[in-house]
Amino acid sequence: MPHSPLARENCDVRTVFVEPTFESWRLQARRLLQEGAVPAEVFFQTEGTEQNFFPGLFENVTTPASLDSSASTLPKLRVPADFIALAETVADHRDERKWDLLYRVLWRITHGEPHLLSMAIDSDMRELLTMEKGVRFDSHKMKAFVRFKKIEVQAGSGITDHYVAWHCPDHPIVRRVAPFFERRFRSMNWTILTPDHSVTWNGQELVYGPGVPISQAPKADDLEALWLTYYKSTFNPARIKLKTMTKEMPTRHWRTLPETRAIQDLLRESPERLLKMFQDQPRSASEFFPKLPEGEKATLEDLRKAAAGCRACGICEKATQTIFGEGPPDAQIVLVGEQPGDQEDLEGRPFIGPAGELLNRALRDAGLNRPGLYLTNAVKHFKWTPPSDPELTSRKRIHQRPSASEIAICKPWLSAELSLLRPKVLICLGVTAGQSVLGKTVKLGEERGRFHETAWTAHTFLTTHPSAILRMMDPDLKKAEYARFVSELKTATSVLQSPSPQISA
Ligand code: URA
Repeated sequence: MPHSPLARENCDVRTVFVEPTFESWRLQARRLLQEGAVPAEVFFQTEGTEQNFFPGLFENVTTPASLDSSASTLPKLRVPADFIALAETVADHRDERKWDLLYRVLWRITHGEPHLLSMAIDSDMRELLTMEKGVRFDSHKMKAFVRFKKIEVQAGSGITDHYVAWHCPDHPIVRRVAPFFERRFRSMNWTILTPDHSVTWNGQELVYGPGVPISQAPKADDLEALWLTYYKSTFNPARIKLKTMTKEMPTRHWRTLPETRAIQDLLRESPERLLKMFQDQPRSASEFFPKLPEGEKATLEDLRKAAAGCRACGICEKATQTIFGEGPPDAQIVLVGEQPGDQEDLEGRPFIGPAGELLNRALRDAGLNRPGLYLTNAVKHFKWTPPSDPELTSRKRIHQRPSASEIAICKPWLSAELSLLRPKVLICLGVTAGQSVLGKTVKLGEERGRFHETAWTAHTFLTTHPSAILRMMDPDLKKAEYARFVSELKTATSVLQSPSPQISA
């Protein structure tokens, strides 16, 4: 019977913590058997997955004992080898109930049911065998489907190849399957990243490390970028433990991995500086994406709600709120600005301040209908600074351009919007929008007024930003620039058939 917390409401239950390994469970199970602890009185829990369903109920807690210190003092258990093999496999299943189930079966085998293992119709055995099958199938899939991407890394004064793969198994099976890849690809240096763990073969040994959150799962060609940020983001100065680090990644191996050069540099810095560096480390907006059941796709509304809580970069600290895109989800034309301004920040909508007014006029003059368009920004928070001399200005908050890393951190929101919208025409207003959408630094003078191909549409168009026109002092130049802006909006949208809801009849 599956263990539900309710089932133990009235029992004197004792929680036994185990590390997430078969060995750790085996040690605790041996102890419990020796003490005569019946399965109904024991609740196994993997360390770090604590969920206290009934606060105060599970106060009787046993923490995992060190495997080295006490394992040898316990009497050896006499259990069938088949059970050990089965338990070793089931220990890699993701379902936390596995530990209780294993203990129950172990108890029964050692308390009068020596033939339990052959009773496939027994409900405990059925459950165990299903778990075993799940782990085996998942391991098989991992062996068959892991695909490596070659990445060139700096090694000493030369360049060497490293092969990286991302895989998302159903169960934490990296340690189980890694030896297979070691045998198969002994002559290559490779790393497999999964949400639970990572493993690297450095030509001499397998080195295990932390996993990569599923939110950072690489899209098609992003594996290299993920690989580089992976070590940066998982390196936490507050937890620098040289001993553990050298154990996980032997120092002789540091020389050959580019990311370990960064670690050496970092270790030379003072702890405060390290902390500051890591607080400044780029993160990604994707960490704040909505967590949806597997297979479910986020809608624009889901994204908008999730973006409201985005704290991926420092801009949010001083901004009032996240300003997400606005417009019909089936809009054929999408316009991307830089970031919300002062008024947008206060009122919660894009392009409603002075730049928005100019944009509205230009859209009308270009024969476009704003309510039919989707308007958004490359960066979703207002970045500002107080005026250096408050006497000289009535403005309390002076706009600041977002940095390249802030644009990159925020980009997942824009990418997600564009992937859902799939616009026919995508208009970038100014260099920040251009940089985010085209994925490179853009030179407006050279690249405006024509189409560029992007992942979202071949009709990606670059033009100026309305604020740039507002800032122009010379009235003639300003007029000419406005006319050029309108003309470019017309060019950009000329590829669409008229009339449409986006284009005024
Ligand atoms: N400027 C922008 O780029 N976007 C806005 O939403 C407002 C001003």
